[in-house]
Amino acid sequence: MSVMRVRPTEAVLGAKVEGVDLRALDSGTFAAIHRAWLDYQVLLFRDQELTDEDLVAFSRRFGSLDEAPVQETGQRFVEGHPEIYVVSNVVQGGVAIGSLGSGEAVWHTDMSYLPDPPKASALYALEVPPRGGDTSFCSMYAAWDELPDPLRRRIEGLRVKHDGTYNSGGYPRQGVTPTDDPRTSPGTFHPPVHVHPETGRRGLYLGRRRNAYIEGLSLDDSSRLLDEIWAQATRESLTWRHRWRVGDLVLWDNRCTMHRRDGFDPAARRVMHRTQIKADRRAATVTTASA
Ligand code: SIN
Repeated sequence: MSVMRVRPTEAVLGAKVEGVDLRALDSGTFAAIHRAWLDYQVLLFRDQELTDEDLVAFSRRFGSLDEAPVQETGQRFVEGHPEIYVVSNVVQGGVAIGSLGSGEAVWHTDMSYLPDPPKASALYALEVPPRGGDTSFCSMYAAWDELPDPLRRRIEGLRVKHDGTYNSGGYPRQGVTPTDDPRTSPGTFHPPVHVHPETGRRGLYLGRRRNAYIEGLSLDDSSRLLDEIWAQATRESLTWRHRWRVGDLVLWDNRCTMHRRDGFDPAARRVMHRTQIKADRRAATVTTASA
């Protein structure tokens, strides 16, 4: 029987977990994975052979799952698996099978435009392009730890509007009228600094830069301050980049990380299946109903 090993990356976040088959975890091994996930924020499991049922079953060990959001095509989810969201550029019979295309997906925390964003996401690679499509992760603990004191003082007590108009690929969400005015766009206010409910660690919570807005400031002042924070939070020294292989499952803590994806050749195929684990409730204010 193989023994599980957790090998931290050389970056400020991320670890590779070796010696596990995610289809067959005993409770002791799962507890160790859960601990490693809280400690390292992002875990990589290589060489997995998961069906959609296996992916859902593994994800459910962390909590109940959210239903997948509506895809850009208006399609709701994978037939028979309401929890699975397809991230893909593949077009079949003229219809995209998933979301986010082949362009860059900008830095974001998943679904932070909602009052209760998922606490975790699991992304499983079924097909990957020969080049490009890498996913990078950023530690929001480290972003807070390294934020200069004057900037910390300026943002404590503020609230930031997280926009629900566009997804990270820049596509408007289903049912939303595109707008670039962050004061009227659909979204949710969250504090830019929060305490992780399980680790007790403090971190930045930024969501997406596009259409973000700091309550009570003029648009210009809000943009300037957000640009300063974002420049600090996404420095390369706070990130870890993952080059995908088929059979990789990456699990991230959506409460203390952001992620982005490089673009890739549109003629190549990339197919990933994603689940999201429901949030623990958090304080937030919805400004406008959004899909
Ligand atoms: C996502 O932003 O959830 C997808 C990231 C990726 O395609 O690597």
